[in-house]
Amino acid sequence: MSDRTLAGCRVLVVGASAGIGRAMAIRAVKEGADVLMAARRADRLEEACAEAGGGHAVPADIRADADCDRLMEAVRDRLGRIDVLVSCVGVAPMRLLADTTAADWHRVFDTNVVATHRLLRACLPSLAPRAMVLCLSSESVRQPRTALAAYATSKAALERLIEGWRAEHPELRLTRVTVGATFPTEFGDGFEAGLLTRALNDWSARGLAQAEFMAPEEVADVLNGVIAAACRYPGVCVDDLTVRSPSPVVGTFGGAIDEALND
Ligand SMILES: NC(=O)c1ccc[n+]([C@@H]2O[C@H](COP(=O)([O-])OP(=O)(O)OC[C@H]3O[C@@H](n4cnc5c(N)ncnc54)[C@H](OP(=O)(O)O)[C@@H]3O)[C@@H](O)[C@H]2O)c1
Repeated sequence: MSDRTLAGCRVLVVGASAGIGRAMAIRAVKEGADVLMAARRADRLEEACAEAGGGHAVPADIRADADCDRLMEAVRDRLGRIDVLVSCVGVAPMRLLADTTAADWHRVFDTNVVATHRLLRACLPSLAPRAMVLCLSSESVRQPRTALAAYATSKAALERLIEGWRAEHPELRLTRVTVGATFPTEFGDGFEAGLLTRALNDWSARGLAQAEFMAPEEVADVLNGVIAAACRYPGVCVDDLTVRSPSPVVGTFGGAIDEALND
């Protein structure tokens, strides 16, 4: 592995069809890593591989055991072992708690917690000694936001899950990545505009809305750089990373938030 790039690393990115995961996977390929890109949408994965000029697309829904088995077959065939596993999977129903149904809770926990566990469990036999495992969490865990309570609760559970894996597998290097507002991604695509406006007003009033978003490519570049540096030093763990915009909080809508609402 060469200095400060992922050249030569065997990397599995799950959630590689969109947003931050897509940007991380493309960048990793361009740096010379051997990359498997997984998510549910095959066409989007193929597009990402085409843009990267390499990598292997493996359509898989990590909520399904059979898909995880297929993904692991691809890992064994294409990578052999995994040096870096990145889970960028995440879904968020935007709902006030009074409107949040049991089905919403099941959906968000099935994906953000249970499926992530299924993925880690499936990957375990294929992880190289001192492999890095990054799971993307959210600043909403420590900064509760109106209409995202179920999502934040699932990410809090994900963080406990990471701690559990770390306790039982100290030989792995598990990183909780706390992510701040990043745009454009598909994360908020299903958010209902009226409720989003109300939520953003409330986040602004409580000092939780920042004037600028990070771009997924910026986040990917920073995260891949940290991974590349840590790959050189298997004796160094990166337990926690927080990536956020250094911009000031906004009291009312403005700048990037206005643009996002008008998209
Ligand atoms: N964007 C933000 O502002 C922000 C802030 C804080 C935290 N985060 C966290 O950062 C991570 C990435 O966010 P993002 O904004 O890049 O999200 P995104 O654009 O919505 O991408 C999410 C990815 O997860 C994949 N995915 C969802 N369900 C899946 C499943 N069951 N099996 C396999 N793949 C699945 C999606 O692909 P398919 O639909 O093709 O399966 C997609 O590739 C998420 O964990 C999110 O919670 C984001």
